[in-house]
Amino acid sequence: MVSLSAYCQSLGQRAGQHPKPNGGSSDGSGHEYGHSLGPSEAFDVNVDQETFDKLTLWRRDYGDVIAIRPAKRGDPALVLNNPEHVKQVLVSHHHNYKKGVGFERVAMMLGNGLIVSNGDVWRSQRRMVQPAFQRKMIAHYALVMQRCNRQKLTQWQSKAASGEAIDVTAEMSELALEIILRALFSDDLDSLIFQQGANPFSFLVEDASRDLQTAMRFRTLTKLVALIMNQRREQCRTEHDLLSLLMESRDKNTGQPMSDKALIDEVMTLIVASHETTSGSLNWAWYLLSQNNEVERRLHQEVDTLDNDPGIDDLAQLSYTRAVLDETLRLYPPVWLFSRKAIDEDSFVSNNVEIQIPAGTDVFLCPFLLHRDERYWSDPHTFSPYRFLGEQSRQIHPNTYYPFSLGSRRCIGEYFALVEMQLHISLLAKYIRLEAVSGDPVQIDLSINLRSRGSIMMMPIARSQ
Ligand code: HEM
Repeated sequence: MVSLSAYCQSLGQRAGQHPKPNGGSSDGSGHEYGHSLGPSEAFDVNVDQETFDKLTLWRRDYGDVIAIRPAKRGDPALVLNNPEHVKQVLVSHHHNYKKGVGFERVAMMLGNGLIVSNGDVWRSQRRMVQPAFQRKMIAHYALVMQRCNRQKLTQWQSKAASGEAIDVTAEMSELALEIILRALFSDDLDSLIFQQGANPFSFLVEDASRDLQTAMRFRTLTKLVALIMNQRREQCRTEHDLLSLLMESRDKNTGQPMSDKALIDEVMTLIVASHETTSGSLNWAWYLLSQNNEVERRLHQEVDTLDNDPGIDDLAQLSYTRAVLDETLRLYPPVWLFSRKAIDEDSFVSNNVEIQIPAGTDVFLCPFLLHRDERYWSDPHTFSPYRFLGEQSRQIHPNTYYPFSLGSRRCIGEYFALVEMQLHISLLAKYIRLEAVSGDPVQIDLSINLRSRGSIMMMPIARSQ
């Protein structure tokens, strides 16, 4: 058994060398995966570009387990790039890992909602929120999604007719926000817009930064959510929406509803968790389609088989559309890096060496790196939806693809998001193609979520039917 601090000490003494506890292997191209060490420099892992650049380099140099000494004293943090280790943290030993570095910042915006909470509070909340995400409920939200998509289609058709370019990044952001707000509040959203003179949530579209100021501004909106809840109670009114389901939900053991504070935190969590991730993914999907004519052609072939505009019952037959989205999430997972903290001691086996993990160790998982790891994916940087179809999809190495995470804390909105995105792409692609205005490749922008750097401008072109 090798302790992490011993690793890092030996590293400090032998900076520049990469000891191989078991004589680790090399793939012959200078990429070594056979040792579990890290860089000599101290570094604090964060959700930013610098971390991304370093991790890309260090994964190549150190492979499956990168041990990184923090700038201040403390045990080294671990970045895990092996699917078995990812599975251990998220699935088989998940009880031993709580939310880690960075979630305190998320908590400022979202309170103690599902994304942030741990232990018994999380378990009880997850059980109470889960019914709102049952498939039969999603079928109802799908009607909301279809309405929003039809409006978007009309707007894009008129832009196509007048030859006006659209800002796809902003358009996807507006659409995803509208969908989650209507799924939560139904027509109470219109009353809110009427009372406030504008949609009070729309600054989330205009201001993509998620700094302290945005967090404070977002928290002021909790009183509007409380207002809607109180009005519904006074009027003894329930709606067929997420908010009413959360308000009606009862703890299985105590029979108690959520406190108002808990309810509001869950509502705020659903807005942010849903908005940024789905809008970012659709933004990338349109961009990737515009760059890959053959994929676009096959997508058109599939959506053209539909006699009517797609509804939730058509999605099962739209397997290529789904593969386009799966592949988009592989290349651009919105949650590109996330963290856990070991509660008690644990250990990993890496290249036949057992590495001891002290309690309190920060652990980082990076879907972006594993999704593009050449050991598990052929042509890992190529957009090829084919890999998610039929026999090919059965070849995908277990636990190498986790845009929605894995295990009991897997995204609660996964099915919601997939239905939302499939309905959007299949309807819009039936009538419109988008052509990138600029030939320059779009760069990624990394913070809590992976976004495009700047807006992607596209020209909508009506497709002849
Ligand atoms: C493309 C879309 C989406 C992606 C890629 C995504 C990804 C993720 C990931 C990776 C996590 C786990 C984070 C962690 O454990 O640290 C997560 C959790 C979560 N997501 Fe999503 N998400 C998406 C859409 C949505 C939607 C549409 C909703 C709600 C309507 C949602 C609500 C949540 C919530 C509440 C959690 C916390 C679950 C828990 O810990 O019990 N997400 N998501």
